[in-house]
Amino acid sequence: MTQNPLLSLRDVNIGYRTPSGMVRAANDINLDLFESDALGIVGESGSGKSTLAMGILDLLADNAEVRGQAVFNGKNLIGLPEKEMRSIRWREISVVFQKSMNSFSPVYKIGEQIHDIYKVHRPGSSRAESDGAITRLLGVVNLTDRVLGMYQHQLSGGMLQRICIALSLIFDPKIVVFDEATTALDVVTQGQVIGEIKRLQHDFHVSSLLITHDISVVAETCNRVAVMYAGYIMETGPVRSVIEEPLHPYTQGLISSFPTLESGKKMIRGIPGTLPDLKEEVPGCIFAPRCPKAQEKCRKQRPQPQEAATQHTVACHFWGRD
Ligand SMILES: Nc1ncnc2c1ncn2[C@@H]1O[C@H](COP(=O)(O)OP(=O)(O)OP(=O)(O)O)[C@@H](O)[C@H]1O
Ligand SMILES: [Mg+2]
Repeated sequence: MTQNPLLSLRDVNIGYRTPSGMVRAANDINLDLFESDALGIVGESGSGKSTLAMGILDLLADNAEVRGQAVFNGKNLIGLPEKEMRSIRWREISVVFQKSMNSFSPVYKIGEQIHDIYKVHRPGSSRAESDGAITRLLGVVNLTDRVLGMYQHQLSGGMLQRICIALSLIFDPKIVVFDEATTALDVVTQGQVIGEIKRLQHDFHVSSLLITHDISVVAETCNRVAVMYAGYIMETGPVRSVIEEPLHPYTQGLISSFPTLESGKKMIRGIPGTLPDLKEEVPGCIFAPRCPKAQEKCRKQRPQPQEAATQHTVACHFWGRD
């Protein structure tokens, strides 16, 4: 892509200090998010996906140490004073969490809570203005004003998550981060919410960073994907080429674990073994202990990302199809 990135991550490293050592949760991360881009970050639980996204927005626990550059609008967000960060978080870059729907108070009507949020950020706005804006946003997620008169307990998880998605757009952000935003929903509701995410990507021209362990969600909503494993990015590229022609043995295993993506395959291969201990420093490839292709070199020398096809990058000494 020739355009300038909206958000550019360079050598981002995030660790958590613990009494038994440093948990290396995100290592040497280099990624770009462009305008109208939808980038998926996929990987199994504990691979560091949320750490990466929340680290950039300074939303991590106190024992986190974040280094590197995350340049947004010419500013490095890493190390930015909290006051400046507050003018970016939610307004320029908003977040929808898996549990966002639990963040409503049970004692006030949903409408009152939304209006309060709107007023905090647009202090001079009239009620008519905020009513108009809120109605329009609810429409994006297929809801009507009716929900405004309801209480949290009167709405389903899917409806509440939709309201959170609508709220994430309230200040016209440039980027929306979805962190497992559809994971807690049943399959049918998940499908509907995915449809709404796609619509808002299209209608609002926001860029999205979509974090999930489910590569089929990425396939539906994203144009590019970064595959993360144990704190490292293994492969990045256009969704179609990564899914149809995965080059990293980890991505190949991940995709073969999802039967719907590999029609005709009789057996789900999966990936034997478990994530390594992130406190241990590994000189070679972090995936080597589980990798069917691993050789001596892989245990000794960490593979650097290399461009294997157009905009398709893979960090493996022996990448390629079987
Ligand atoms: N405050 C913390 N202190 C120490 N380790 C932490 C802390 N927060 C997260 N971790 C560890 O960092 C690693 C990455 O966690 P993270 O939540 O980023 O993974 P994830 O890919 O988002 O997983 P999931 O799919 O389960 O949400 C895990 O090993 C986790 O246990
Ligand atoms: Mg997570």
